[in-house]
This record gives sequence, structure tokens and C-alpha cells, in this order.
Amino acid sequence: MTTCRVCTGPLRELADFGRQPLSQAFVRPEDLATEFFYQLVVGRCADCAMVQLMQEIPPDKMVHEGYPYHPANSTVMRKHFQDTATRWLETTLTGPDPFAIEIGCNDGVTLRTLGEAGVRHLAVDPSGVTGVPVHRAFFNSESAAEIRAEHGPADIVYAANTICAQPDVASIFAGLEVLLAPDGLFVFEDPYLGEMLARTGFDQIYDEHFYYFTAQSVQAMADSFGMRLVDVERLPVHGGQIRYSIARRGSRLPSVAVKELLAEEEAAGLADDTTFAQFVSQIDATKDALLNLLTDLGDKGHSIVGYGATAKSATTANYFGIGPDLVPFVCDSTPSKQGTLTPGMHIPVRPPAEFADPYPDYALLFAWNHADEIMAKEKAFRDAGGKWILYVPEVRIV
Ligand code: TMP
Ligand code: ZN
Repeated sequence: MTTCRVCTGPLRELADFGRQPLSQAFVRPEDLATEFFYQLVVGRCADCAMVQLMQEIPPDKMVHEGYPYHPANSTVMRKHFQDTATRWLETTLTGPDPFAIEIGCNDGVTLRTLGEAGVRHLAVDPSGVTGVPVHRAFFNSESAAEIRAEHGPADIVYAANTICAQPDVASIFAGLEVLLAPDGLFVFEDPYLGEMLARTGFDQIYDEHFYYFTAQSVQAMADSFGMRLVDVERLPVHGGQIRYSIARRGSRLPSVAVKELLAEEEAAGLADDTTFAQFVSQIDATKDALLNLLTDLGDKGHSIVGYGATAKSATTANYFGIGPDLVPFVCDSTPSKQGTLTPGMHIPVRPPAEFADPYPDYALLFAWNHADEIMAKEKAFRDAGGKWILYVPEVRIV
């Protein structure tokens, strides 16, 4: 693909991470022959500065059925979504009989919290989510028209870790045009390119993260669809995200935070190719350091186990070449992943109970974004002399 998915401007390649499997395509041993691979290449639009993947995954290859993402399994994420809802109850949703929509609803924690406060709410998601009312469809002008006819306009349309995964943003904005109340807000949060570059958070780059947003590129995107970026907020989850608020043009003024973040991005050279090239050389330095460490520890007879079969560890394992020879298995609390092999590198996934049976000498924390929670849960590992290996922002043993 050589043109921008937002504005059709020319794309320029920034980095090539090679042949990769789908990050959520955990494989059963009998299905190895049909594993799908694609080329993970990142580019930037010369016109609107949107950073995006240069190869789109055919929709029928994406893992939809039984999609194993359950943020409510993480207490930190559950609190994040509850706090989000609680704040809206005090701010955006104070009018008469407000109505909230969530696109792709992350276990429904946000909507359920709103529902408990008596706010009308609806998830728009093609796959099943229990516990909240769901309109089973992709969010676009058609589903938005159906929802508007039945429920009226939405005061808030929210999406967490969803918009960055939708190459066809035009259809999302077409839906907003139909459904959003005149002073309504489209609020979405996704990994932030600025944070990825600042922390060498390269493993946010994988198939389901099609876009790598900045305030600059989101502002250009909103403008191109006749809307306006009116607020930004930094979120501490998933290694650094930004929550963007977009409103209909003329309904709200941009906050000071928008101007400040745009200025910060300019000063950091976030849209400069040299800044990205430096990111890539830091990634390769991390690769060398981690492979040297794992090989060295293995040579000295130390045992190493992986922890957290995250989507983002697909990029780490496959780009670095970390397989069962270096990390014999990875523990993960998600039942549907247990008993499978990790995409591409085929490291067996086992239940966390096997972590303690016996404890390894070292644990490679693939789920570094949940470090505090996992290290607290596995306190006995460190008490028994075990050590964690982290690799973002740099390789270190803690
Ligand atoms: P995520 O970063 O995409 O939320 O994925 C986190 C993965 O880590 C998920 O597969 C579940 C796993 N995990 C554990 O095994 N134990 C834990 O305590 C937490 C929080 C996550
Ligand atoms: Zn563009």
C-alpha cells in the first residue's frame, strides 16, 4: 500500500519489521501448517503525518471469533474504565437523559458503570459481549442510523484501543456524523507514538495497531472529516496512551492541553524521519542486548520462562527471534491461550500455576505494561530468589 488510509496522500516507509504472524493467532499444534504471515512495515503520510502500517490484513484473516482480549482480567484496567465512566457522570453526561455509546466495548466495564448510574448506554460491536446491551455491527453510517432511529443522538461515543485498529476511519467518522449530538464528544484512546518513541515501546507495533497516533495526525484527521480535536489527555495505561476528544466543528474550543501537546510534538521532532530512524536503531540495540542476555543466561545453566502471552510480544518474539530454545514456555492467565503455541515462534503457553512448579531463575516479562500488577501477584517468585527481565524502555534485570 502506498497511499494514506486517512487522506490518500503518499506514504513513505519508516521501518520494516519483516515477516510476522497475526499477534492474536495463537496456534494449536495441529494447525501450524495454515499459519498466516504478513509483512510488518510502518510508513508515514507525507501530507497528514499519520503513521500507519503499509500492509493491511485481509479482514477474514483477523482473529474475531473468541477474540482473547479481556481487560477486565486486569484490576488496573478495570479501575481505569470504571474511573472513566465515573468522571463522565460528573462532566459530559450531566444533561437530561444522556446516552453513551462504546465502539468495541472491552468487556463492557465502562458501559456497565454508566448503566449502574442509570445512564442509557449501548455497545456497538460485531462480536459478543455479555452484560451490556450490544448492537451487533461495525460502527458506520448504517449502524449509526439504526441506533439513532431507535435511541436518538449520542452524547458520547467512546472507543478504547479500537480506533487504531480500524484502517477504514472514514466509515467511523461517517457514523459519527449521523449519531453524535450537536455538542456530543467522540472520545478515543490508543497507544501514543510520542510515548512509544520516548520509551522505545516498539512492541506496540503489530497487526492490530494499524495507526500510531499523535495530536498532530489526529488533528489533521478530525479536520479532514469536518470535525475538530478539542482535548487530549495522557493516560498511564498500556505503556502510555493519549485520550483524544473530538467534537463537531464550532461546538467547542480546543483546550490548552491540545496546544501544549502539539507544541511538545513539534519540539520533539515527532514527525521527523530522523527521530523515527533513531527509534529503529534503539530497537535494534534492545534486540542485541536481550538476545545476548538470554543466550548468556542459558549458557550459564539458568532457567528462563516467559510471562504474559501478550499481543505485543508477537513483535518482540518474531522480530528478535525468541523461540522455545531461549524461552521454553510462557505463562498466561487467559484460559483460551493456554495449551496453544505463540504466533510465529511457537512458544508453548501454560497456566500461571506452572510458573511456581518450580520457579525459574528468570522470568521474561512480555506483559511489561502490567508489571506492577503481575510482580505483586507473583511476589513469592522474587522472595524465592527469582528475577524479572524487562526490555522496555531498555533491557534490565529487576
Ligand atoms: P494485554 O497487555 O493485551 O492486556 O495482555 C495481557 C496478557 O497478560 C493477557 O494475555 C493476560 C496476561 N496476564 C497474566 O497472565 N497475568 C496477569 O496478572 C495480567 C494482568 C495479565
Ligand atoms: Zn494522510
